[in-house]
Amino acid sequence: MKKKLIFTFYINIIFLIILSLNTQKLKADEIFENGRKIFLDKGTCASCHTLSNAGSQANIGPNLDEIRPDLNRIIMAVKNGIGVMPAYDGILSEKEINAVSHYVYKATE
Ligand code: HEC
Repeated sequence: MKKKLIFTFYINIIFLIILSLNTQKLKADEIFENGRKIFLDKGTCASCHTLSNAGSQANIGPNLDEIRPDLNRIIMAVKNGIGVMPAYDGILSEKEINAVSHYVYKATE
């Protein structure tokens, strides 16, 4: 009887672990998709940057496929602007800045 209880207990733990791994993955995909939309629409990043995942081919800013910036560098550029690139602080929310940066990072990783 006790053995059966312990067995059920472990099965439940394993089930919960699998479930939580799955939701984490879903969440990451959601941020990626959301970031892609911001890149194309609200952030207008696509009007200045080439990024093959987004299907954009603009040459005002550097080609993101080529420079493959790390996450912090992207967040810095988006938040504060750099050169001709406008600062997005106040235009995009913190969450949107993080999503679009995550997207660019993952799409060029
Ligand atoms: C008006 C055109 C324009 C728009 C819109 C624009 N950028 Fe840029 N971006 C540039 C230019 C120009 C540079 C190069 C600036 C420099 O190095 O002087 C740049 C640089 C960058 C860099 C490299 C930063 C570095 O440290 O070298 C990243 C990453 C980047 N942009 C991402 C984005 C993202 C993401 C968006 C949308 C939220 C975006 N850009 C929107 C023009 C633009």
